[in-house]
Amino acid sequence: MGIALASVFLERTNRYAEILNQLEPSAARKLRFLKETLMKRVRLLSASFVLFVLAIGYLPVSNAWALENGLAKTPPMGWNSWNKFGCNVSEDLIKQMTDALVSSGMKDAGYQYIVIDDCWQIDRDAQGNIIPDPKHFPSGIKALADYVHSKGLKFGLYSDAGTLTCQKRPGSRGYEFQDARQYAAWGVDYLKYDWCSSGTQNAQASYSIMRDALLKSGRPIVFSMCEWGTAKPWLWASNVGNLWRTTGDIQDCWDCKKDWGGMGFVHILDLQDGLESHAGPGHWNDPDMLEVGNGGMTTTEYRAHFSLWCLLSAPLMAGNDIRSMSPEIAAILGNKEVIAVDQDPMGMQGRRVKKDGEFEIWSKQLADGGRAVALLNRSGKESQITVKWNEIGYPDSLSASVRDLWVKEDLGKKTGSFSATVPSHGVVMVTIKP
Ligand code: GAL
Repeated sequence: MGIALASVFLERTNRYAEILNQLEPSAARKLRFLKETLMKRVRLLSASFVLFVLAIGYLPVSNAWALENGLAKTPPMGWNSWNKFGCNVSEDLIKQMTDALVSSGMKDAGYQYIVIDDCWQIDRDAQGNIIPDPKHFPSGIKALADYVHSKGLKFGLYSDAGTLTCQKRPGSRGYEFQDARQYAAWGVDYLKYDWCSSGTQNAQASYSIMRDALLKSGRPIVFSMCEWGTAKPWLWASNVGNLWRTTGDIQDCWDCKKDWGGMGFVHILDLQDGLESHAGPGHWNDPDMLEVGNGGMTTTEYRAHFSLWCLLSAPLMAGNDIRSMSPEIAAILGNKEVIAVDQDPMGMQGRRVKKDGEFEIWSKQLADGGRAVALLNRSGKESQITVKWNEIGYPDSLSASVRDLWVKEDLGKKTGSFSATVPSHGVVMVTIKP
């Protein structure tokens, strides 16, 4: 080894050739051989080093993939004031909703966050501190958060990355760190952060500022980005937010469309197709809050809306008046078997595996290797829909147990396929497990 090293060094000078000339032919051959072997090893090592460096460049650095705040390992569940109450929020309403979440059994079913949407804030003081509307929140936000916490629930607020919220209340632009500190002091556990009055702001930069501010606040706060999917947040937001809206506002209808961008259930659903690979524990696609129980759809349609949201691993933020919901609506929002599909610990978002005109099959892989499947009938007539095993990644020969999650009944073992009669604008939702 020493000799080989010496010869590599000497090769750089004329001495190497001189020494070779002076040696016996067999000794010269040996020296040449030793030197070449060493050079080969050096070349191999350098190539491996280059590959190693390149590989490091491509390896996921852990927080490049998910916001490291340890929250929302399964899609967040709770209630939000906007869909039903809009700007008519008050501490009384929030307290009543908190009580109803507990008494209705929704807390037991997993709903956790009580979130006040727009309109709780009214101004800033001379020091820039955000001021809650004193008329509707006379006891202040801290007292309200304490109340929610005293019921074993978590508390959320809303703000905006621009200068004003969508209802023209003060936004957080330029006050991000001050607001985040205030939220933490009040005991906020969840922030929904909107995108109105954001002008030419860059979405990724703006949301990252609030992400940093929340992390700096020292309190674990779920960060819910409401940027309406404009800048395709699924492509960049997994280390910015815990969830991000993928579309404009949901409307309480099957398939209506508003000029300003609001849209009914099926239009939102169509826009989720293809986004599935971007969701996972800690970072979710958000197709918007639930309209279940708000009166614009039939019970069958609401069942479809809820089923598909669970198939999509969507955040489940109820948006109805849970103080006065009917037993049918309570049974939809409280169906623990369907909720278990949403909350499956693997966090794999389901996807549309087949579209045959107005008949669709959506499938979600579960942690136990099973599948949750929704047969969706978008047509005006009751129809039979069949899911074939090869459409959900099973071999045709597999015998699997089918369970209907709405009827709550085992349908026995099936091989190769499963068929069901599906109501118009409805679903049949099953698990299919080997
Ligand atoms: C919209 C948002 C809604 C609601 C509303 C409040 O931008 O998408 O979910 O928060 O603002 O003004």
